[in-house]
Amino acid sequence: MIKFICAKDYDEMSRRAANVISAQLIEKADSVLGLATGSTPIGLYNCLAERCAMGDLDFSKVTTVNLDEYKGLTHDNDQSYYYFMNKNLFSKINIDPANTNVPDGTIEDPEEACAKYEAIIAATGGIDLQLLGIGHNGHIGFNEPADVFPKLTNCVDLTESTINANARFFASIEDVPTQAYTMGIQTIMNAKKILLVANGAGKAEILKKSFFGDITPQVPASVLQLHPDVTVVGDEEAFALIKDLI
Ligand code: GLP
Repeated sequence: MIKFICAKDYDEMSRRAANVISAQLIEKADSVLGLATGSTPIGLYNCLAERCAMGDLDFSKVTTVNLDEYKGLTHDNDQSYYYFMNKNLFSKINIDPANTNVPDGTIEDPEEACAKYEAIIAATGGIDLQLLGIGHNGHIGFNEPADVFPKLTNCVDLTESTINANARFFASIEDVPTQAYTMGIQTIMNAKKILLVANGAGKAEILKKSFFGDITPQVPASVLQLHPDVTVVGDEEAFALIKDLI
């Protein structure tokens, strides 16, 4: 089942999404959270950090597994997702760094990197709540439009559209890595609950395609229609084309 929560703006979207994660942690203090990067969840992470600082949220028993990482970027590279997560969340909450996991982009051999990450996820006992953003082409994690749904953690060649979209974070487009390690679609679908966040008019079209269009690997997020427990939190702009359908 898909629940849609329409917030009026980015701040409200961030708080509402933080409510979903808060509820999860209240219900199960030792939850395994699947986390995402990108600009969309930053407000949500700030909100979680504030609630933790106030003593309203406790991450001491939480384990996290991130969706993806650029291949080739070291942990101290400020564009790596490892760096992003430490900067935007882990350094601001009472989580044990040993319980945080991001695919290791420094492992050269894709087979080794992906198998290692699947083993890490399996060792957590399974993801309770997976947070997702969504790419303009419907990618989740870094699973790009393809002929088949990639099942497990895999190494992807990033599409031109994703490289262009993410170039804004790098000094020049040539610096954007062309490959990434990402959880697969089955890895994501195995999570007990999914929380997807989207804001801005740029995401309106893809939200409609993903949740009201055909289920196809050409729109990777469309597979979420088959998941039993999905919550989509977006702002009014992102929901512009689906507000009459929900
Ligand atoms: C990247 C990440 C995705 C993210 C997407 C959208 O490609 N790998 O996990 O959902 O960007 O990013 P943004 O939230 O900045 O629009």
